[in-house]
Amino acid sequence: MRGRKVGIIGAGAVGATAAYTLSMMGTCHEIVLFDIADGVAKGKAIDISQASYYAPQGTIVNAAESASDIKDCDVVVITAGVPRKGDMTRADLLMINAKIMKEVVTNIKENSPEAIIICVSNPLDVMTYVCHQITGWSRNRIVGMAGALDGSRMAYQIQQLTGYNAGQIGSLVIGDHGENMIPLPHKISVGDIPLSELVSKEQMEQIINRTKNGGAEIVKHLGTSGYYGPGRAIAFMVEAILNDTKTIVSSSVLLDGEYGHKDVTVGVPVVLGANGVEKIIELELDADTKEKFDISLRSIENGINVLKDNNFFT
Ligand code: NAI
Ligand code: 2OP
Repeated sequence: MRGRKVGIIGAGAVGATAAYTLSMMGTCHEIVLFDIADGVAKGKAIDISQASYYAPQGTIVNAAESASDIKDCDVVVITAGVPRKGDMTRADLLMINAKIMKEVVTNIKENSPEAIIICVSNPLDVMTYVCHQITGWSRNRIVGMAGALDGSRMAYQIQQLTGYNAGQIGSLVIGDHGENMIPLPHKISVGDIPLSELVSKEQMEQIINRTKNGGAEIVKHLGTSGYYGPGRAIAFMVEAILNDTKTIVSSSVLLDGEYGHKDVTVGVPVVLGANGVEKIIELELDADTKEKFDISLRSIENGINVLKDNNFFT
């Protein structure tokens, strides 16, 4: 059984919501927040601690003065990053966030050498690859959060379309956390009944398209990306690791021959438990899905190659 200290680096909207969710659920004993912006981690740690007073179990929530104070954590969640601004290209943003990731991960490696890392920062699959490269840790200890969120977005679409209880709805989304993600509604069931027996082919297509648009739909209404869904999805993964629940959830992981690919991080179903990624589940993909998976992989590899071409790893 692992201990129960969780570090969260980046106390912005998503990091703070993950901390709040974890403290309301009583998943861990202690949470330590760090943010580079002055006062942010401290202010939010105090606020969440005070909210914890009314939670069923108390959780200690502290702010770290410096990144190196995130010490001896069992799980570290990385939500640090900057959004795209002005005339910044995607490649510019990729380089900026990769540099942030390098600094953050170097600190984790030194100060929480036994941790399991949950990477959340975007572009998710490429940042998860950066975590692997910088730590050099065995691949079970680094996992990217995407499928947990995209799956909840798919279940939401099915609930909206059918009216059936969301808790009965399965979820499965693979591929990148981006425009080439692959929702697989035809592989899931609702209350043990295959979804394909409950909705039409046209409705299946609708579910796929709306799931892919799930993040953008929130941005359209809110003017910023979502944080409750991501915060809860992170907490779900932390819970699986700390409680060793052997939960199956799609996550971005480093492939080493699975699905016919190596040296690339991508979302596939995995088993999460005390050792992090305890197993990668290899689904049978039909020809159409395989083609989509390969396109998705290529888009991630293009991002990784931008970093390689800029000598980021050397
Ligand atoms: P945000 O802008 O509210 O928070 C990011 C925080 O990171 C800021 O408070 C900033 O000061 C901090 N930060 C920047 N550099 C840092 C460093 N070197 N060390 C410590 N903190 C640092 O953004 P939000 O909405 O919380 O999103 C965070 C990240 O998560 C973004 O990259 C976003 O795209 C990504 N995201 C990923 C999701 C997924 O499914 N994987 C879902 C939602 C967001
Ligand atoms: C989302 O899917 C921006 O990755 C973030 O909401």
